[in-house]
Amino acid sequence: MISQVLRDARKYEETAQKAITREMRPGFHLSPRVGWMNDPNGFSFYNGKYHLFYQYNPYSSHWDTMHWGHAVSSDLLHWEYLPAALAPDTACDRDGCFSGSAITLPDGRQMLIYTGVEKINLSDGSDCVLQRQCLAVGDGVDYEKYGENPVLDESSLPQGSSKYDFRDPKIFARADGSYGCVVGNCDGDRDGRVLLFGSPDGFSWEFERILAENKKRFGKMWECPDFFELNGKQVVIVSPQEMLPQGFEYHNGNGTLCLIGHDDGGKFVEEHNQSVDYGIDFYAPQTVLAPDGRRIMIGWMQNWDTCPANAPNQPWFGQMSLPRELSIKDGRLHQQPVREIESLRKNEVRYENIKFTDVIKLDGIEGRKVDLEILLRPGDMENIYHKFAVRFAQNDKFQTSVSFRPHERVVKIDRKFSGSRRVVIHQRRSLVRTEGGVLKLRIILDLFSAEIFVNDGEHVLTATMYTERAADEISFFADGAVTMDVVKYDLVAEEK
Ligand code: FRU
Repeated sequence: MISQVLRDARKYEETAQKAITREMRPGFHLSPRVGWMNDPNGFSFYNGKYHLFYQYNPYSSHWDTMHWGHAVSSDLLHWEYLPAALAPDTACDRDGCFSGSAITLPDGRQMLIYTGVEKINLSDGSDCVLQRQCLAVGDGVDYEKYGENPVLDESSLPQGSSKYDFRDPKIFARADGSYGCVVGNCDGDRDGRVLLFGSPDGFSWEFERILAENKKRFGKMWECPDFFELNGKQVVIVSPQEMLPQGFEYHNGNGTLCLIGHDDGGKFVEEHNQSVDYGIDFYAPQTVLAPDGRRIMIGWMQNWDTCPANAPNQPWFGQMSLPRELSIKDGRLHQQPVREIESLRKNEVRYENIKFTDVIKLDGIEGRKVDLEILLRPGDMENIYHKFAVRFAQNDKFQTSVSFRPHERVVKIDRKFSGSRRVVIHQRRSLVRTEGGVLKLRIILDLFSAEIFVNDGEHVLTATMYTERAADEISFFADGAVTMDVVKYDLVAEEK
């Protein structure tokens, strides 16, 4: 039974979507069908297709009572919208269906697990928000909420856990046919932790243990946890709120954190921590295990603090990042754009051993939907250059740049001149590895974003930019002598 609230949302999105033409959207990044999008939800492979749900307010391009939007794809790049999957229409989710995940049940149905939000008035007159985990089961289009929701509430929490910050369940199948689920949480001081629950059937759940704890290291509340094995290691990904900066590794505000470790008799032992993305706009990522064994991650290509920076009157707001293949090399998380993107490549333009010392433009290297690979070497080994930069989304008024200072080992993304009229951050830096000024960059540009993969995905920096479309030049700058190989492809996602 589809509720009236969901029926209304479906009707609205179907009509309102017509005002948004293909040209108004990113070329190959997912944007909401209409209205507002935040976190990826329920990223899964079901009945032969990738399913991606998202935090969704169809009715305006601002965050409000959360629904789940829904899209499917065969290649993670061409997305087809399906009707909204969840709406706030039951007692325990009447104030929002917050983030969650999806799994295929043994009987072939797809199960969604999400956070139901309910605002209540306390007897002392104050308000509070309860967050509890709920289920919905369906066929890939329509989902029925489980009659016994919620399946996890405050009675399942360990001592000291907040019942107001208890959200974003990520479910996974275990080898013995049972299920595990990690949920974001914090203690009374809002210090983040990831809780692990277990279930024989996906419907009845029990607390197992605290999987990972912040211990006041990285921000406050930990949102949107994920937990999986990768290259023989265990990986926890969380999105902490209210981070303090730490050197070049962690930035202020909402961040994404990766803990890499191993299992010691049922205990997760941390070995290494790092940022997942060193740019401005990347948050709340979620992974899926693809049928071919790849662990693929997608994030919300936005940052809560910089939302006001964007055009106020657009009929949609929010984008997903490019899906990224994950691996661990030398103990670090590496990310590469999904290989499917190679099928979008058109019009190759290649230059080798280009030597320059100031500003150059290269014939055929331009565009706003582009895959650009750059291999940079010093032109003079005795006297390594001071700075290199590539500028894009450029005309005589605007540009966004990625620069590299080999002596400091710093890569910087700077969108100050991208057309923004707001006082929000426009730059971020990352400390990278270089030997003698050699650096590899892969830059994926879409109409409203740049994703920078440094040294085969050892570091990634992501930023949105809402520069006018006419700004499509690309130029290169060097302070000192540089030798560069560069390959450019247009990225063309034809309508399927
Ligand atoms: C993260 C988040 C989640 C929550 C959702 C609400 O961006 O705050 O913790 O489920 O957004 O839309």
